[in-house]
Amino acid sequence: PETHPDLDLRAHIRGIPDFPKPGILFYDISTLLRHGPAWRAAMERLAARISPYKPDVLAGIESRGFLVAAPLALELGLGFVMLRKPRKLPGETIGLDYALEYGTDRIEMQADAVKPGQRVVLLDDLLATGGTMAAGIGLLRQAGAEVPAVAALIELAFLNGRARLDLPCETLLRYD
Ligand code: PRP
Ligand code: MG
Repeated sequence: PETHPDLDLRAHIRGIPDFPKPGILFYDISTLLRHGPAWRAAMERLAARISPYKPDVLAGIESRGFLVAAPLALELGLGFVMLRKPRKLPGETIGLDYALEYGTDRIEMQADAVKPGQRVVLLDDLLATGGTMAAGIGLLRQAGAEVPAVAALIELAFLNGRARLDLPCETLLRYD
């Protein structure tokens, strides 16, 4: 059973206009993070949504994805793997370059972070265009992981990021 079943998560997300650029409405999770019951409710609800996929380990995408994946892993009694920005991880790494609106970006993980065939659910705070999530999925698969699903707190449905993903995507809050 949930600790705060009646809590309205949407009331704890703040929309900030014109950030980081004019015309962009930024959905800020800071207000959710700083409210204990809301933060717990979000993690419990996401935990319930991803446990049916029977993950062996969870992965999170730097940096806000860490805020979701690490507490969820703890809640589910699982390990947690970091997908990081370039040159942050020690030891042997593998990486994947992906396209942005302008230019490219890259994410990396440690080469031995997952075992071939391990079931890894990938978490981020927010699904926008889906480019970041798609790159994370690609990298985990490159490492030999099976990715049964991905999940995020927030989905910007009007950007249709889930159309870029070939697997189930669980989100708690959708904005149109
Ligand atoms: C934001 C957000 C997601 C990504 C979603 O991360 O946290 O990771 O963008 O966008 P997409 O679906 O269009 O790829 P950001 O790059 O701002 O970095 P941060 O997590 O380090 O704040
Ligand atoms: Mg991010």
